[in-house]
Amino acid sequence: MGFVDFSEINKQNEYLSKARAILEGKGKKAFVMTLGCQQNEADSEKISALLQKMGYTLTSKEEEADILIVNTCAIREHAEKRALSIVGRFKHYKSANPDIIIGVCGCMTAQEHRREHFKRSYHYVNFTFGTGAIHRLPEFVYNALNGGKRYFDIDPETPKIAEGLDSVRESTYRAWVSIMYGCNNFCTYCIVPYVRGRERSRKKEDILLEIKDLVKKGYKEITLLGQNVNSYGKDLENRTSISELLDDISKIEGDFWLHLMTSHPKDASDEMIEAIKASPRTSGHFHLPLQSGSDDILKRMNRHYNLEKYLGIIEKLRAENENITLTTDIIVGFPGESEDDFERTLEVIERVKYDSVFSFIYSPRKGTPAASMENQIPEEIKHERYQRFCDKQNDISKEINDSFVGKSVRVLVDGKSKSNEKMYTSRTQGNKIVHFECDKDYTGSFINVKITRADTFNLFGEII
Ligand code: SAH
Ligand code: SF4
Ligand code: F3S
Repeated sequence: MGFVDFSEINKQNEYLSKARAILEGKGKKAFVMTLGCQQNEADSEKISALLQKMGYTLTSKEEEADILIVNTCAIREHAEKRALSIVGRFKHYKSANPDIIIGVCGCMTAQEHRREHFKRSYHYVNFTFGTGAIHRLPEFVYNALNGGKRYFDIDPETPKIAEGLDSVRESTYRAWVSIMYGCNNFCTYCIVPYVRGRERSRKKEDILLEIKDLVKKGYKEITLLGQNVNSYGKDLENRTSISELLDDISKIEGDFWLHLMTSHPKDASDEMIEAIKASPRTSGHFHLPLQSGSDDILKRMNRHYNLEKYLGIIEKLRAENENITLTTDIIVGFPGESEDDFERTLEVIERVKYDSVFSFIYSPRKGTPAASMENQIPEEIKHERYQRFCDKQNDISKEINDSFVGKSVRVLVDGKSKSNEKMYTSRTQGNKIVHFECDKDYTGSFINVKITRADTFNLFGEII
């Protein structure tokens, strides 16, 4: 598999120096807006680092920025609409100051019809680029600074991996580490394989170095990112696997939690499950997307597992470890979903009792097989089912949260609560939100909290 070679890296370093020569000492500011999933967040942290190296100061105020970058998501229509409205809003900055640079990147711009739309209808956008071209940002910015032509980059089907890019991380204690990019699975509803290209893994040594560095810096939670981390390493020249990677990570000393985001049930091997269970860093939480409880729908989603296989994995995860926090993703209203199919999904969530579920109303994505399937479900039925689904899951979440009252949990503190000055907010290993009162600021540290009260989405407690 390909990695970006030295000559390309050197070329980008030259652009970076040339951009810095223009920008340095001018007090120019950069604003990066991120939509979408953790992979986009990780990408934006690299974009921010490149902008900083070019001589920009990062700002969280869009109105004072000299360059604005919108990192877009294409997973559902709503995400694309949001991106269009944000880019639309940026027009008046450019009207007020034509020197302002506006770039749009991420999954949405990898689609030809969207790229064309930005080109034709958003004349003030200087450039767009896909997720495989982040390392080329210095070139795009330098070109724009020099008054070059508007530019709309197209990613190859399998972009090369650019190692060695720094990140300006949002948090000093929670970090994303991409272990692979792209996706080969082509679930029939999903746009990701079309916009992020084929699967490619980073080398194990590079990942381990990054994790060691994060642990040394005091990071307490590390999330390994990939669309299907269970197939990590299969494409590498030195073939390896997620369980080998987890074994190697387990040898790194330090007190931190480790998450996998996301596992695909079709590739969840026994070795991987054992590796997850073997370490206290990973054994507290597992996210395993189900998508639907109906075998017929799973088949038409091209998921390559059935309910029996899925439930078998859950059983193995829970064996000797009943308290593991389990979370999942569900799509409601996939084309052809009958009332009976939908009820299968309700039965599974009743049976598994997930701590929480990320549930989505099916959104047709242009160019995916499901978008042209017959029997698209009418909006009102999708919404009605979604509501029934949420009501049921909320009851389950509340029931599980209630069972925490009286127990002690270990949490990682996130800082002062937004709604209550006196309270701090934190999260458990399984991502449960825990609020507690405290005089001392433990942000970024682990502490133990005794739970005294619960509602559907929150736990409340006292520091021990
Ligand atoms: N690679 C991950 C998923 C990434 S997308 C995996 O396979 O689990 C995150 C979630 O978005 C998916 O799990 C799915 O539940 C949801 N999703 C993807 N495409 C969708 C669509 N077209 N409409 C609604 N939800 C969708
Ligand atoms: Fe999309 Fe399926 Fe790939 Fe996940 S595994 S990113 S849902 S195609
Ligand atoms: Fe969205 Fe791209 Fe992530 S489509 S969900 S930002 S992989």
